[in-house]
Amino acid sequence: MAKSDTLHLQSYDLATQDISTVDLNALHALSISVGWPHRQVDWQFLRSVGQGLVALDEIGRVFSSSMWFSHGEDCATIGMVITSPRVQTHGGGRWMMERMLDECGDRRVIVNSTRAGYALYISLGFEFQAVVQQMQGTVRAAAALAALGTEGVEEITPAELPALLALDRAAFGSDRTNLVSRLAPLSRIVGLRRDGVLQGYAMRRAFGRGQVIGPIVAQSEEDAIALAAPLLADLEGRFARVDTRQPEGRLRSFLLASGLAVFDTVRTLTRGAPLPKVEPGRPGIYGLAAQPLS
Ligand SMILES: CC(C)(COP(=O)(O)OP(=O)(O)OC[C@H]1O[C@@H](n2cnc3c(N)ncnc32)[C@H](O)[C@@H]1OP(=O)(O)O)[C@@H](O)C(=O)NCCC(=O)NCCS
Repeated sequence: MAKSDTLHLQSYDLATQDISTVDLNALHALSISVGWPHRQVDWQFLRSVGQGLVALDEIGRVFSSSMWFSHGEDCATIGMVITSPRVQTHGGGRWMMERMLDECGDRRVIVNSTRAGYALYISLGFEFQAVVQQMQGTVRAAAALAALGTEGVEEITPAELPALLALDRAAFGSDRTNLVSRLAPLSRIVGLRRDGVLQGYAMRRAFGRGQVIGPIVAQSEEDAIALAAPLLADLEGRFARVDTRQPEGRLRSFLLASGLAVFDTVRTLTRGAPLPKVEPGRPGIYGLAAQPLS
């Protein structure tokens, strides 16, 4: 009898498990398989501020992940939704997302969607809100140095965290105490004060290939630039990233001049309530904490 030219090998029975139980190596390998820059410590941080599931086969290989992050009682962000390329388009992504949405309950949910995830999220009731520009590159400090020196921009001390959290809440629309207070010890933080009142803040920390600047909470693009400038000024020749929903304008021109070009875009979708508007004169999100954290 002639031998067949085809061999059917794909047969996986996957079971879910809490994401906190698996080896960071396995999560790292999963995010590398879809070209994401997360290091093991980045996964470790995300696990410390959120919760989620992985799907494993019977010999413990991780084939997919998904996480959600609670921001107060009324908001959640979903992220780190990954299906290994080996088993994509077989329903695993939808299966994981439905479980995440069950866990989020009746919170408003925000997700920053890649092209690959978009149809899935729309089919689950999410609505388009804004485009996020992922701007990154090797820092040219000249632009940042030229933008330095705005009166009232200074380093923030831990004692000022309550004021910072109040400002963040006004910008984000929900209480991010858990996230922001865990980012704080890992970050360099600057604030912008006028008449003794905190008007904006920005954080910078190690992430992926270099440093990420975010969140940036400000009341105008000019203030966002004043906050980002000192965090970029000492990074000459190093890799930095800012994720922003600001349309083309002064902030994006400043980031471009500082060496951060648009590397990719994702789309912010929400379920349950729209994203708070960013308008001059009131606190708004000018830079994301991270894509899964919004
Ligand atoms: C997005 C992702 C998680 C989807 O995982 P998956 O296991 O392939 O998803 P599913 O098989 O459940 O498919 C979900 C829906 O998306 C659609 N879909 C899946 N892959 C698609 C693709 N490459 N292009 C267009 N649509 C696609 C399917 O048609 C499916 O719709 P249906 O249930 O009505 O048939 C996966 O592609 C992935 O890990 N991509 C890389 C990482 C990423 O971008 N994650 C999303 C972060 S927001």
